[in-house]
Amino acid sequence: MKADGGSPQQSEDYGDLRGWIERVEAMGELKRVNGAHWDAEMGAITHMLTEKSRGDAPAILFDEIPGYPKGFRTLYGHFSSVRRVALTLGLPLEYGRKVDIVKRYHERIQSLTPLPPRYVNDGPILENVLTGDQIDVLKFPVPRHHERDTARYIGTANCVITKDPDAGWFNLGTYRNQVYDGKTIGCQITEGKHGRIHRDKYFERGESMKVVVLVGQDPLLFMLAASPLPEGVSELDFAGGLRGRPVDVVRGPYTGFPIPAHAEIAIEAEAVPGKVLKEGPFGEWMGYYSDDTVPRPYLEVKTILYRNNPILTCAPQHKPVDETGLLKGIAGSAQIWRALDACGIPDVLGVWNHEGGPATRFTVVQIRQRYPGHARNALHVAANCQSGAYAGKWTVVVDDDIDAGDLDQVLWAMCTRFDPVTDIDLIQKAWASKRDPLFLPGNFNNRVLIDACIPYDMKLANKFPPVVDVSADLRATIKAKFGFLNFPE
Ligand SMILES: Cc1cc2nc3c(=O)[nH]c(=O)nc-3n(C[C@H](O)[C@H](O)[C@H](O)COP(=O)(O)O)c2cc1C
Repeated sequence: MKADGGSPQQSEDYGDLRGWIERVEAMGELKRVNGAHWDAEMGAITHMLTEKSRGDAPAILFDEIPGYPKGFRTLYGHFSSVRRVALTLGLPLEYGRKVDIVKRYHERIQSLTPLPPRYVNDGPILENVLTGDQIDVLKFPVPRHHERDTARYIGTANCVITKDPDAGWFNLGTYRNQVYDGKTIGCQITEGKHGRIHRDKYFERGESMKVVVLVGQDPLLFMLAASPLPEGVSELDFAGGLRGRPVDVVRGPYTGFPIPAHAEIAIEAEAVPGKVLKEGPFGEWMGYYSDDTVPRPYLEVKTILYRNNPILTCAPQHKPVDETGLLKGIAGSAQIWRALDACGIPDVLGVWNHEGGPATRFTVVQIRQRYPGHARNALHVAANCQSGAYAGKWTVVVDDDIDAGDLDQVLWAMCTRFDPVTDIDLIQKAWASKRDPLFLPGNFNNRVLIDACIPYDMKLANKFPPVVDVSADLRATIKAKFGFLNFPE
């Protein structure tokens, strides 16, 4: 990583998933693996290549999967490097600190005008269209990702497209899809997620809900589908705005929904009120097989569209560090920052959802304190805004001299600027997830807010002890004189 916070150039538009893979290979960040089995081997390889990663694990393209034709591939580990996240977002590739890319993305979002998709008549996604008896989702090398999963999951790095029955906007959310048989898949959507609100609205009216499930697509769409964008903002429009060109879409033959013309695999399906099947168990994002295995609404598959030699995209999660940690660290944190802005919290300098948490389980906000109570303002908004609230556990606020993305510095602040009696607030009965091994009856959770800033009165009166550090002047002198020592940036 560079020290200057990033070069001014944007990274070039990679086009679609295949263009992204080419770029990633040219960056030296792609591993090709042939012969791994769909039964737990691909998931284990990715886990083992990622678990000790400090943001330098590769993306992995699997081919020659036993039982499947050569060319029917899977892609794992999209986002386990900052450079690949940056490539995906169209941002400069190099950063000094992790929070610098969040800052850059946050600035980009502020000036973004959403751009609706453009309907086209043809595209590679129409190269193969399966209907009726031809439908079989196991045509693709669908993995059993973790050893204790009892089923294969086709949807992990996916985009589930649903339509709000009132306002008509299309949401894209990443919600997992278990395979029951070639024509029946699951769709686990947690309470409060946009796709769930859409489904609840249809079912309350006794109506079925049409969906499109993309299970191979532009990594940008996956990243946005897995990020907490605000209600009413379609990820398709947001992606168009970020790129500066609309996403080309064809109209789904069954649903009429927009389907990205360069997607790899799209499944049109329907959820019917009252029709449920037992779903799970599945290795979950908090690192446990903690989810309840209960009946959940499933999807009846109506058509399958796919490109020749399709790539199934995968992101099974596991004990940290996993390959979605940086996605949540960067795209999730930028949305919390946006919410802090929207609530008028001044002087926010950084936000980071720590990979080891993961995500909102450990969020740090860095501020320049301006007034008494500023730290608590930031804490409560970060912990309770839509993008920060889901399944949170620890929210910490630190001063401007602490890098929110550096766990050593955050820990130091928590150990030296925090008093356990006065600097803790608790939130009870918050928006939880049954993926949390400690969720409370009624599916709530409790969480803790930590004010690890120097008490404002002490800061104002300059009464907090000075930090033992090397001054900026002496650092510059030493670097000039002893540059051959190659001090780390
Ligand atoms: C790899 C991955 C898998 C996910 N799986 C699920 C899931 O199965 N169900 C769910 O409700 N959320 C899941 N999420 C989280 C949602 O995608 C995320 O909360 C997103 O913001 C939801 O979109 P929405 O805000 O439009 O509802 C997953 C996230 C990732 C990164």
